[in-house]
Amino acid sequence: MPHRISIRPAAASDVDNIHDLLQPMAKAHVILPRSRDDIFEHLQEFLVATYDRTLAGVAALHVYGTNLGEIRSLVVAPELQGHRLGSMLVDACERWAKGLGLARLFALTYVPAFFVKKGYHVVSKESLPHKIWTVCIHCAKFSQCDEVAVEKRLSDAPIQPMKMIPILEALERD
Ligand SMILES: CC(C)(COP(=O)(O)OP(=O)(O)OC[C@H]1O[C@@H](n2cnc3c(N)ncnc32)[C@H](O)[C@@H]1OP(=O)(O)O)[C@@H](O)C(=O)NCCC(=O)NCCS
Repeated sequence: MPHRISIRPAAASDVDNIHDLLQPMAKAHVILPRSRDDIFEHLQEFLVATYDRTLAGVAALHVYGTNLGEIRSLVVAPELQGHRLGSMLVDACERWAKGLGLARLFALTYVPAFFVKKGYHVVSKESLPHKIWTVCIHCAKFSQCDEVAVEKRLSDAPIQPMKMIPILEALERD
């Protein structure tokens, strides 16, 4: 029987599972820590991937001004990595960002090779606006950030918001 994979906006009932998925990666300093309260406050930024109805991946899209967005908190459960869930979450964030009229997406990451496969380019951290660093004060490595900045241009000009966001449609794969 084929596995059912779906990408959908996060719901309040997902918060504990999102927190449990992010926590070990935050402890390993792979992503910034997110408390349950922080996840609740930013719940509308989160997408989740489910694998046979189990929460298996998460990503957040944070919008800055001037057509710029950031993919944050991208994590796939270790036992389900390599099944393209990470790729599908990034695709969904991009579709969402395009629908919002954002021209560029960036991420700060230890896995630039994954993002390069998704069409991102490595850029200098100094090329990103100063305001993106405000959340980084919560990072243990703030003074010696060794993450790599990657960026993708989604469009040459902002586009009109879509009438319906396609990420709301469940995706099915074998
Ligand atoms: C990075 C991560 C999200 C990738 O998710 P995934 O579902 O395992 O990746 P996918 O199966 O979608 O892989 C898509 C492609 O990227 C490649 N890829 C995946 N992880 C990679 C990595 N760490 N380095 C290089 N390439 C990678 C895959 O081989 C695949 O390549 P292909 O298209 O040639 O077959 C996942 O490994 C993860 O959660 N890592 C720990 C947390 C983390 O580092 N998050 C990023 C924070 S910005």
